[in-house]
Amino acid sequence: MVPGSFALIGGDPGIGKSTLLLQATERLATSGDVLYVTAEESARQVKLRGERLGVAASGVLLLAETSLEAILERVRESRPAFLVIDSIQTIFTAALESAPGSVGQVRECANRLMQIAKVEGIPTFLVGHVTKDGAIAGPRMLEHMVDTVLYFEGDPGHPYRILRSVKNRFGSSNEIGVFEMRETGLSEVSNPSELFLAERPVGVPGSAVVPSIEGSRTILVELQALVSGSSFGTPRRTTMGVDHNRVALLVAVLEKKVGLSLLAQDIFVNVAGGVRLNEPAVDLGVLAALASSHTGRPIPERTILFGEVGLAGEVRAVSRPELRVREAARLGFDRCLLPMGNMKNLDRPPGMELIGVRSAEEVLDGVFAV
Ligand code: TYD
Ligand code: MG
Repeated sequence: MVPGSFALIGGDPGIGKSTLLLQATERLATSGDVLYVTAEESARQVKLRGERLGVAASGVLLLAETSLEAILERVRESRPAFLVIDSIQTIFTAALESAPGSVGQVRECANRLMQIAKVEGIPTFLVGHVTKDGAIAGPRMLEHMVDTVLYFEGDPGHPYRILRSVKNRFGSSNEIGVFEMRETGLSEVSNPSELFLAERPVGVPGSAVVPSIEGSRTILVELQALVSGSSFGTPRRTTMGVDHNRVALLVAVLEKKVGLSLLAQDIFVNVAGGVRLNEPAVDLGVLAALASSHTGRPIPERTILFGEVGLAGEVRAVSRPELRVREAARLGFDRCLLPMGNMKNLDRPPGMELIGVRSAEEVLDGVFAV
């Protein structure tokens, strides 16, 4: 925690931002008083939730307030060691006539809070709801001014949540934390790969496992594809958790370079557990899952694959292959397809077969060759 640091925690409404901060304040309170401004829920509601979560209230000052001026006054008066504003979109300044949540209000309130954070040296957290319609300003417009941007992600239908740092002036960005939302609040998941693979269907076509690097961690995740009989008109392309454009590219590669006829098919790609994958290293997994679903041949249970695929169908090397292979071996995988360009000087964990591939065609030959 850096004095005066100004951090934004964004995420969909209901994803667990307040829960996360409430639990975090308990730890923060051991090193100084926390002023927790709740501008959405009453102090009573937050208190009840805190009690349910087993958050000890000592050192946490709850303030139910929406007026920026009143908040600033309280900050000056009580000089907390940490400040939490939940949320930036529900507080307003009397200096502007526009409604709370408007672009002008959000920007002005964030600016004034940043001033006090910097001048008084108070580490501050702003909660910002990701908004779908334009009436309320989203957290993105604050990204450039804050020191740290964290996004809390996850599918509300799943218990897993990922806290992802996308900007960090004081440390490495792109780090993630993985949590599970339980009855008793959020708990850290120390072994995310096991969790994400727990419900993987075995021996079923369309499922592939990939090692993805998020910050300094490697997590294994399951990618699922469903290629289903062509519909009339424009075929559907639905992707969740992976980039839509990359899936379109991989479909085109399978069509053109491998000769699978997919263009008229409905295609669905999903990352199990509601995880979002941002790196091209998962291309090989998407490719194999698509081919597997299309041909009805399952990918062998203990096979894993990673690598980027280019437009010519070539398989390109990716960063840190050794970490990916090691995590795969740790979780009992014994066969790994990876870019030929990553094979050089790569340590082979005991019991692991490494198969270097150069093209999309070689991927499919290799993946089903058992
Ligand atoms: P919340 O922190 O209020 O979300 P946000 O501040 O991002 O809008 O969390 C909302 C959801 O989390 C709520 O629908 C219920 C769930 N939840 C649990 O499952 N267990 C818990 O212990 C708590 C506090 C919340
Ligand atoms: Mg909330």
